[in-house]
Amino acid sequence: MTQRFFIETFGCQMNEHDSEKIAGLLAHRGMTPAQNVDEADVFLLNTCSVREKAAQKVYARLGEIKARKRRQSDFIIGVVGCVAQQEGKSLAASAPFVDLVVGTHMYHALPDLVEDVRRYKAPSTRCETQFLKEAAPVEIPRALRQTAFRASVTIMEGCNKRCSFCIVPYTRGRERNRPSDLILEECRRLADEGYVEIVLLGQTVNSYRDLREPRLCFADLLGRVASIPGIRRVRFTSPHPRDFNDDTIRVIGSCENICNQVHLPVQSGSSSVLTRMRRQYSRDWYLELIEKFNACPRPIRFSTDIIVGFPGETEEDFEQTLSLLEKVEFESVFSFKYSPRPHTAAFEWTDDVPEEEKARRLQTLQRLQRNIQTRLHQERYLGRCFEVLVEGLARDGRQRCGRTGSNKVVNFLSNDPPGMFAEVMITHAGPNSLSGSKVQCLQLTF
Ligand code: 5AD
Repeated sequence: MTQRFFIETFGCQMNEHDSEKIAGLLAHRGMTPAQNVDEADVFLLNTCSVREKAAQKVYARLGEIKARKRRQSDFIIGVVGCVAQQEGKSLAASAPFVDLVVGTHMYHALPDLVEDVRRYKAPSTRCETQFLKEAAPVEIPRALRQTAFRASVTIMEGCNKRCSFCIVPYTRGRERNRPSDLILEECRRLADEGYVEIVLLGQTVNSYRDLREPRLCFADLLGRVASIPGIRRVRFTSPHPRDFNDDTIRVIGSCENICNQVHLPVQSGSSSVLTRMRRQYSRDWYLELIEKFNACPRPIRFSTDIIVGFPGETEEDFEQTLSLLEKVEFESVFSFKYSPRPHTAAFEWTDDVPEEEKARRLQTLQRLQRNIQTRLHQERYLGRCFEVLVEGLARDGRQRCGRTGSNKVVNFLSNDPPGMFAEVMITHAGPNSLSGSKVQCLQLTF
């Protein structure tokens, strides 16, 4: 009987793709994916520790899974990802029913580790959380991807920044770039397989560089991926504002199959908060970067991340963040209440904005953004035609949903299968989504 595995993923797109790589590794070893955890012999929880809440979710989920282990002792439970990396042996100690704890550099070892656990029932948790010294991440032969039209491709891992709130450098290690020839080979193969959209991934994706000949930087790589025949859309996430240069902005502005949407995590609109966050830019510098994108020959749409209630954030600081949202006109904002994370510089500082105040600021910010978004959707989308890449059924189970190049979700009636492009006229624009009808468009909008 072949073993069946099920991977549950919390967190970012990097984690989602890591799960696809792990699935590829296990499938390569002859295991088969299960439809759900009940049908699985091996359960892997891929975890996120970027905020306190995410890390707490892991323990809650493990608590639920524990019951199954009691009933069935040969059920294998593994914890992988950022919580595994960060907590390692202490996770093993507090959840001894977990068989495996595997950190972010060690996924290639998973097939052997799972097999070991199955064969030699070890009395204690196996823990593999070392950081590797190699300049490039270990190559994983073939990911088992969730969709057949959009593919994530890792170009770098880790982070050399030291933002004072952020745990990522401690869970992912230092920057490691993948050789560009291997990236391009993977993208070409994906295009041959029929993928039409590529999402380049890295914790600071735009700091990418391949120091070997021919010395590609991020701008070069973007241009080369975009010119692969069959690749209709290229996205990338997540960039750091500091790592954009004029070349990258020029390539994004001029290359039509690089999506005209850029995620620019600003975190705060106050320069004094930004300094304490160690973001390496000020409010004005960030606004100048936005101006450079706005000077591109086609419109570039922005999204961002915001943290409210960072230590020492005053009401004035917060208002600066609100005014930045009005100024930049982001098309979507991911906003979070600050939570102290172990190992980070800010962990040592007093978390002095009370919880109720953080909640109030978050709510105020989200309300403002909702209004901005509604207005932008009406101004920029309503009554215009967009090319939409169909993803599948909409929530109502009747319409299709897809995305514009600018990454807006659009619902519309059609029979197009996932991976098809449809031209859609937007007839309704709410704060969070758009809907429309399929038409033959004379002129498409970006
Ligand atoms: N508290 C709250 N939000 C955080 N983020 C990262 N670290 C923290 C923290 N300690 C947010 C940032 C980042 C996003 C992925 O998560 O906004 O861009």
